[in-house]
Amino acid sequence: MSAEPLVVRGLHKSFGSLPVLDGVDLSVLAGQTYALLGPSGCGKSTLLRVLAGFETADRGELRLGSRAVAGPSAERGMVAQSGGLFPWLTLRDNLAFGPREAGRPHTAAVVEELLVATGLEGFGHLLPRQLSGGMHRRAAIAQVLANRPPVLLLDEPFAALDAQTRLRMHGWLRRLLAERATTTLLVTHDVDEALLLGDRLGLLSARPARLVEELAVPFGADRGHGLLADPTFVRLKAEVLDRVLVA
Ligand SMILES: Nc1ncnc2c1ncn2[C@@H]1O[C@H](COP(=O)(O)OP(=O)(O)OP(=O)(O)O)[C@@H](O)[C@H]1O
Ligand SMILES: [Mg+2]
Repeated sequence: MSAEPLVVRGLHKSFGSLPVLDGVDLSVLAGQTYALLGPSGCGKSTLLRVLAGFETADRGELRLGSRAVAGPSAERGMVAQSGGLFPWLTLRDNLAFGPREAGRPHTAAVVEELLVATGLEGFGHLLPRQLSGGMHRRAAIAQVLANRPPVLLLDEPFAALDAQTRLRMHGWLRRLLAERATTTLLVTHDVDEALLLGDRLGLLSARPARLVEELAVPFGADRGHGLLADPTFVRLKAEVLDRVLVA
């Protein structure tokens, strides 16, 4: 399946009398990664949950390619801020769960390929609690990727990891997403992560969230951690931090 753009227009959402999303507009180009930053509690996870179909919007439009989409679907795979993975299933059975439920052929081969792609080869027989933090996050992403979703929604996927492991995860995820041409919305508090992984970067206001600023990330596909010392990277990071800290 070729990648499709994800378009969000005028999304509003309140919980009772608490307005959380105040007309969010953004577009993720086909096969690109859009990194979304915003203050804690502004509505980022709520936005992802609406896009995944786990919450309904009060108003607004959500399109994948030319189709309006609503409700949960395996075509919009979400990796939640924490958790994921069924604790009672081995890693291999966790990855196989989605494709098996969908009656997809060749599940065993797909799972083995993902174990290799995520560097978890040889660990498929372990239970989630037997994995390290970094392995667990890769496995949670792999479980969603097993469904081959054209859209991937990532909610602070590496927030709990140490800085070195997180940098390794960035390299790994960037290569994986490029190979699979997945349209990705990545929520993060980490400006380095946004600039290392994003093709575009968006900044949300405090709650109720609306998009206040966007910028194109001027780096190509080849982004190692050496980019952290690049003058353009350093300047952009300072600019983004200035805005994040006043948002
Ligand atoms: N199911 C719910 N019912 C009522 N209020 C909710 C619900 N889910 C989220 N909220 C409220 O919506 C607001 C936004 O929450 P959300 O989890 O989207 O923030 P966030 O931007 O992801 O924050 P963080 O960066 O800390 O993860 C918060 O005030 C939260 O209490
Ligand atoms: Mg959140």
